[in-house]
Amino acid sequence: MAVKPEVALVTGASSGIGEAFCHELAGRGCDLVLVARRQHLLESLRDKLQNRYGCRAYILVEDLGDPESPDRIFAATQAWGLTVDTLINNAGYGLSGAFSDRSWQEHQQYLQVMCLSPTHLFHLYLPGMIERNDGRVLNVASFSSYFAGSPYLPLYAAIKHYVLVMSQTVHAELQGSGVTVTALCPGGTKTDWFEKAESTDAIRALPGFMFLSAAEVARCGCRAMLRGKMTVVPGFWATFTVLLSRLIPARTMVMLIARGFKKGRD
Ligand SMILES: NC(=O)c1ccc[n+]([C@@H]2O[C@H](COP(=O)([O-])OP(=O)(O)OC[C@H]3O[C@@H](n4cnc5c(N)ncnc54)[C@H](OP(=O)(O)O)[C@@H]3O)[C@@H](O)[C@H]2O)c1
Repeated sequence: MAVKPEVALVTGASSGIGEAFCHELAGRGCDLVLVARRQHLLESLRDKLQNRYGCRAYILVEDLGDPESPDRIFAATQAWGLTVDTLINNAGYGLSGAFSDRSWQEHQQYLQVMCLSPTHLFHLYLPGMIERNDGRVLNVASFSSYFAGSPYLPLYAAIKHYVLVMSQTVHAELQGSGVTVTALCPGGTKTDWFEKAESTDAIRALPGFMFLSAAEVARCGCRAMLRGKMTVVPGFWATFTVLLSRLIPARTMVMLIARGFKKGRD
């Protein structure tokens, strides 16, 4: 089915996979709403997109850790008269350390950014898409959505599993509606994510060829979304790891990950 997105809202547009999504979509003639906290990066991306692709790009400086932010984002796009037909829930980060070492405030903020705000945005934009019989949502999960756990990145795999299962559930509910939901499950991707998550040491042990570029991941995600696929795992290594994780018993898997990450942190 050939679909042509017209206005896409991308969260976490200021860097990495989100920024790559903006280039991918603008290259397909789509206008964009860019959401993130770092205003100067959004402004420079907006100018670049407008000059390079001739699209319209709007910026919204928002912290998705604020529970009110999804309502403000939705209200802003309504006020601008934009019909958002494509939602890319991409913003995210890693909170490393043992579960008990992080404060409740840190965990709560993390759950807000990674689960509640994307789900809220999804819920806000979906009715309009259903009414118009046209729309697509892409939720960025991870290959770790399929893992038994993520010790020392404690809530990450559980949250990404939630994102995957929520996406699959709504995808099934929307059959025949003209609206599709896709979960993108990338493996290692060359972005600032690892630096910010302070998990660089553990990941450094992995060979570079196991990583894809943000552009490769966004291209793969975009294609899957436009074809209305339910899930996509980009690249050979991520696919291989997902298959392997299904064969290894859960306890063995989490103990292996715990050992690798603990060693990386020592
Ligand atoms: N890199 C990987 O290997 C990998 C693998 C699997 C899945 N992923 C997932 O891919 C997504 C994108 O990550 P990335 O690798 O592209 O990392 P990145 O380069 O660090 O980008 C993360 C984006 O999220 C935004 N963000 C973070 N916290 C936010 C907040 N509180 N409010 C609004 N925006 C916020 C950041 O913008 P500001 O800082 O400007 O707010 C930034 O634009 C994440 O969901 C991540 O979990 C990454």
